[in-house]
Amino acid sequence: MRVCLTGGAGYIGSHILVGLLEDGHDVLVVDNFANSSPKSLDQVRIITRSSFEVLDQDICNSGVLSEALSSFRPDIVIHCAGLKAVGESQEQPLRYYRTNVEGSISLLEAMDQAGCQRIIFSSSATVYGTPRYLPYDEAHPVAPVNVYGRTKAMIEDIITDWAATDPGRSAALLRYFNPVGAHESGEIGEDPKGIPNNLVPYIADVATGMRTELSIFGNDYDTRDGTGVRDYIHITDLADGHIAAMAFLEGNQGVETFNLGAGEGSSVLEVVKAFSRASNQSISYVIKPRRDGDVSESVANSSKANDVLAWKADRTLEAMCADVWRWRSRYPRGFDG
Ligand code: NAD
Ligand code: WQD
Repeated sequence: MRVCLTGGAGYIGSHILVGLLEDGHDVLVVDNFANSSPKSLDQVRIITRSSFEVLDQDICNSGVLSEALSSFRPDIVIHCAGLKAVGESQEQPLRYYRTNVEGSISLLEAMDQAGCQRIIFSSSATVYGTPRYLPYDEAHPVAPVNVYGRTKAMIEDIITDWAATDPGRSAALLRYFNPVGAHESGEIGEDPKGIPNNLVPYIADVATGMRTELSIFGNDYDTRDGTGVRDYIHITDLADGHIAAMAFLEGNQGVETFNLGAGEGSSVLEVVKAFSRASNQSISYVIKPRRDGDVSESVANSSKANDVLAWKADRTLEAMCADVWRWRSRYPRGFDG
């Protein structure tokens, strides 16, 4: 198939790109490198020994995007481009609405121009907000508690309304839980700019000696050891979920929402221990107050994706940590060193 992959240079996009190329698809990556390095694409070329097209453009630039899609004529778009930092979204709401929401509208318009009727969208478990029950299933109310989450919920609605106007259109809205890990080759992985917001990149910085200690945000939650519990999913399992969703959309019309998670929770302390074992490094930590906006637990019910997409996340937390450690041991400063 001909696949347009927005955000293909980013953490999740680059792993999806590997999967697409290994399956023999023709790919156009659209990315303006706002939060990524072109070197990730070079590494993908090395891993897969394949080539693909790249358009270095902002997805909000609708004229250029329309021209590029009309010339490439994708069968499907996988839409990962966007801004994703929750704290930053509260400080810069308009930038988030413009990039995420306006960017998605511009992309759908370009798809219309190019006659492309299928899209897979990178949504987030963040759309659920505070859990009314756990594990979250797709019927859980959507009630995001931050700007970033609201952009994702809005885009889901926009895609749903777009698809409703033509029976030939189809979409998969994939709500990711907590993607971690790296490609097993150690050649690509997560490369956050500045101080990492997320747990595993921060732990990796401590393990490589770049930072002295991890702050654990709260040990008084109502969980088995008092620290926050999350559903960590290996990045390669997540990428495979997109390949499964592509196959599903080939034979189905309309819009379907899928949780992509492992269906199992791990606490912060369990992740620290697993990473320490995988890296053979001790991870110093200090207990700090709870972080604003954190929930105590977030775990997916992914049985819909298991049944309908015939997909399951089965890589373990140990594998996630071992793969991050391989990536960070080779490239302690990410793509820049
Ligand atoms: P990332 O920042 O590594 O990748 C996003 C990519 O989009 C980057 O390469 C960036 O340069 C590109 N981009 C940003 N703005 C752009 C624009 N205006 N035009 C073109 N390209 C642009 O993030 P990621 O972790 O790979 O996330 C990918 C998608 O998955 C995002 O939409 C994110 O919201 C979503 N998501 C991520 C997580 C997570 O924990 N990583 C969880 C749930 C959902
Ligand atoms: C995990 C656990 C923290 C850092 C975020 C976004 C979400 C989604 C995935 C995009 C929590 C604890 C963390 C640290 C810590 N992204 N922690 N010390 O918050 O579940 O989800 O990323 O859609 O929208 O909110 O992930 O990795 O930040 O935190 O103790 O330095 O680790 O309190 O319990 P989170 P995270």
